[in-house]
Amino acid sequence: MTEKAWGGVFDEATDRRVEEFTESVSFDRRLYAQDIDASIAHAQMLAKVGLIRDDECRQIEQALREIREEIEQDRFQFRSELEDIHTHIERALIEKIGDAGRKLHTGRSRNDQVATDVRLWVRSSVDRIDSRLVELQRAFVGRCDADAQVILPGYTHLQRAQPVLAPHYWLAYCEKFQRDRERLADCRRRTNVLALGAAALAGTSLPIDRAEVAARLGFDGVAANSLDTSSDRDFLLEFVFVLALIAEHLGTWAEEWILWSTAEFDFLKLPQAFCTGSSIMPQKVNPDVLELIRGKTARVVGNLQTLLVLVKGLPLAYNRDLQEDKRPLFDSFDTVDASLELAVPLVAAARLNRPVIAERLDRGYLDATTLMEHLIRRNIPQRTAHELVGRLVRKAVDRGVRLLDLPLEDFKEVHDDLDKSVYQVLGVERAVAAMTSEGSTGPEQVKKQVARWKERLKESESG
Ligand code: ARG
Repeated sequence: MTEKAWGGVFDEATDRRVEEFTESVSFDRRLYAQDIDASIAHAQMLAKVGLIRDDECRQIEQALREIREEIEQDRFQFRSELEDIHTHIERALIEKIGDAGRKLHTGRSRNDQVATDVRLWVRSSVDRIDSRLVELQRAFVGRCDADAQVILPGYTHLQRAQPVLAPHYWLAYCEKFQRDRERLADCRRRTNVLALGAAALAGTSLPIDRAEVAARLGFDGVAANSLDTSSDRDFLLEFVFVLALIAEHLGTWAEEWILWSTAEFDFLKLPQAFCTGSSIMPQKVNPDVLELIRGKTARVVGNLQTLLVLVKGLPLAYNRDLQEDKRPLFDSFDTVDASLELAVPLVAAARLNRPVIAERLDRGYLDATTLMEHLIRRNIPQRTAHELVGRLVRKAVDRGVRLLDLPLEDFKEVHDDLDKSVYQVLGVERAVAAMTSEGSTGPEQVKKQVARWKERLKESESG
């Protein structure tokens, strides 16, 4: 009897190099638990429709549970000639219980197993990433009260632009990660569909009950078209895309905090437990964790590219190329999961260097735009107001002073209608306080948003 799951038609033994080249068990062994869960559900369905006997089903379940323990306790022997995790588990089952084990593969294909196991794995991985994102949002929201009064410079082109309340920064990241959570939920919907029963590509003539298997495995439904299902890896690409976007969002945050922790900015003190030093420069405390979060984004984005190229132009239905989907999938998950694990304590523990931030807020004319808006409110056309404030900034720059320091004559000189009320919007505190539009950094708006976020995160605690 050949060891292969497909040996019958072959006269020649497989070349050793082919076995090495085609194996996937070195990486798909990670799916062992999903494979066993799906096989148990499949066996129970086979018994229910009468394709196997109840006692055979019990033997199969019992033996599969033993195999699970052996794998978990590192007592299971893996060998590349058995190709993948699915064949390993089935082979071990047959060794344990003989003919009952030889019935398990009734009405299913190996690709059925691959597709089903990966769907189960993606489903739980989506949930894991989602709960990490919630933790990260909690860490950002957790800073909001303590940092409520802190005003930071906001940037465009990395040039000082307008003043922004610190919680406005923290909630900006919460919003980005919230959209990622929505994308995860959407991806989960399409993932959580039963593939098993598509068989090789055409379905089966045996009286299987797919709805029964779907219910046992917690899938919301059954995939409609066997030809589509056996070739479909969309759900996995979607997940890797969402992971890439999360990595991009983390990378933006990491870059910002790397900058803020430099001597040049000096806005932020990173906890030493999350920094590393230099082997040659004794004084160095480097933000390596943030740099690696930024750097690992490259691999996560690369994995998405790998998968898009992998499925490009594949004819229906299953092609062995698809075996190559697992490494990029696992790697993207592991990388983003690890990055999030570190991002959470970093966000919670970093400290804003308030005196330095405050002392430099006068630089960069952060109140110029609010001054322009004050002029607009006095019925001066926006284009004119922009021009006039530009001239005022020019004067202030030439004299090395703030807009606030210009005497009233200077304001009057650019426009007769201006009076001492201009001073009500000058200075960063007043410029921030003047903000009122929905979603702006004005204190009322930010307060509302912080409350909204606290409420939202309370909800996701329960569900
Ligand atoms: N190891 C293969 C994979 O992961 C199993 C699918 C095998 N199907 C086949 N027709 N060769 O894709």
